[in-house]
Amino acid sequence: MPTRVQGQPVEHYPALSPEARRGSVRRVTEVGEEVLHRPCRPVTEFGTPELAALIDDMFLTMYVADGAGLAANQVGVDLRLFVYDCPDEQGVRHVGHLVNPVLDPPDPATRSLLEDGEGCLSVPGARMTLPRAEHTVARGQDMDGKPLVIEATGYFARCLQHETDHLHGGTYLDRLSQRDRKAALRQMTDRREEVYARRTRNTERLTGEGE
Ligand code: NI
Repeated sequence: MPTRVQGQPVEHYPALSPEARRGSVRRVTEVGEEVLHRPCRPVTEFGTPELAALIDDMFLTMYVADGAGLAANQVGVDLRLFVYDCPDEQGVRHVGHLVNPVLDPPDPATRSLLEDGEGCLSVPGARMTLPRAEHTVARGQDMDGKPLVIEATGYFARCLQHETDHLHGGTYLDRLSQRDRKAALRQMTDRREEVYARRTRNTERLTGEGE
């Protein structure tokens, strides 16, 4: 099954993306930190070394945390972009970054919701079930400003919706009932240390360094 990189099929792709090999691990922000709870600013400068380095760091940080997606405010940067490495409904792996993403409004003809488990690197250790559109289209740009249209199904569609929520200053906790939100925060309290220990081990494995 070909992998899709920036929406384009490629025959072979390494498990660890080239961005991650260049990147450094950044600290992942946690729910409650201000940068996660306000809208991010649009990216207006493209093709800069700073933007490329941010994307490299976000990839490595996502892999260290065993994530399928990561938004910039999850590394403390309030810019509208995210990275992803996530399978779709058919098991196709999608890898890339998307700047200034906007989701198409749901098509009433094909709108259907899928209940599935979802977690967030900024709510370490929690996992809850919630409905998401099973198909979505995200429009935005790449780091050089080139327009991109990314179509997604299944878990990848969930990922694009989750990451776009982050850029609006939301987390998936905001989509849960009060009772489920409390349950998620309890899971985080119980499992947080274990999750951070795993991230430290992953950092050593992926970079040969401790934190
Ligand atoms: Ni998240």
